[in-house]
Amino acid sequence: MFNKMQVESSFSNDEFGITNKFQMFINGVSIDNHERDSLLNVIDDLVIKAFVDGDNTAQKIVQNILFMIYQINLVHPLSEPAKMQYDPLVCTLRMKIESKWLEHEFSNSPTMTYSATDSSFGEYLKSVWTNHIASHHELFDFLEKKSTKEQLILFLKSDSALNLIFFDLVAYTLIGAEQNTRGTISENLWDEVGHGDNFYTHVNLYKDVLSRQDIQLPTNHYVDLYDEAGLAGHNAFMLGGINRKHYYKLLGVMAMTEVLDPPQYMKLVKGCYRLGLLSGDVHYYNEHITVDIKHGDDWLYKVIDVIVDAYPDAKQDFYQGSLLRLQTAERYYDQLLNKIKKI
Ligand SMILES: [Fe+2]
Ligand SMILES: [Fe+2]
Repeated sequence: MFNKMQVESSFSNDEFGITNKFQMFINGVSIDNHERDSLLNVIDDLVIKAFVDGDNTAQKIVQNILFMIYQINLVHPLSEPAKMQYDPLVCTLRMKIESKWLEHEFSNSPTMTYSATDSSFGEYLKSVWTNHIASHHELFDFLEKKSTKEQLILFLKSDSALNLIFFDLVAYTLIGAEQNTRGTISENLWDEVGHGDNFYTHVNLYKDVLSRQDIQLPTNHYVDLYDEAGLAGHNAFMLGGINRKHYYKLLGVMAMTEVLDPPQYMKLVKGCYRLGLLSGDVHYYNEHITVDIKHGDDWLYKVIDVIVDAYPDAKQDFYQGSLLRLQTAERYYDQLLNKIKKI
């Protein structure tokens, strides 16, 4: 979902008609001041409904608006939406949604309990991960032991959008990185592009997983399968990628992503073998079982710990970024398992 001429929505419209209206606006259809005001008012109301009243439908609508806004940063440079990147209304809406979302996301989260007597801060974040339900979610036990082929296919489709944009997300962590973390981050990015071999670049390895199962990849990379949580999880990366003040959150999001993958993918791959897939069919996942163990440790000990040593105040953002990834992942796994079980 990058270098496209148009921003895509994960669903076609909503009961308020705001999704369509906003999509047209962001894709370059000009609107008058009155329409700008009404867009602002409707989204203002929806943000309150979503993040103060906790309304699920409103959450999905505003996360999708945010998802569309973030796409601007990766659309084709010659496209109409590229011209909207710093449109004042787009920026205002983005900031309104982001701030209320984060407030809501952390309102019931456990507070950080790290103390100086603990081992490193990276080690503490690892314990936050192991104690979080996302690290041992039943979705992956189901995929390992019980899923049908059809259910596995749904998982693979749903896993597409994030896997196919991951290079760009890692690239965001490199911009403005501390000097002594750049080598580690570059190494991660180099792994992501298969050490320069186009066949082994992770995007192509994932496309290979899909094509070997005869799954046609639509231009929207199956974002229509996302619910609120899928969108929020995706947005969690872009939030930190395009907002300098959330850069440390992005590193927390990354660290948790890499520690989450290996044990879950081990279960997934076992499920694939149980259903008759061969090792060549799951190259992408096997690659991440091994390489992400290193990536996870690298983010925690060679990036986050290094930054915390220099800037102890960064801890809260690393912690919140980690929570953001774990909480959205848990909700995403819940929703996906639910959907899978209905097949
Ligand atoms: Fe990767
Ligand atoms: Fe990785």
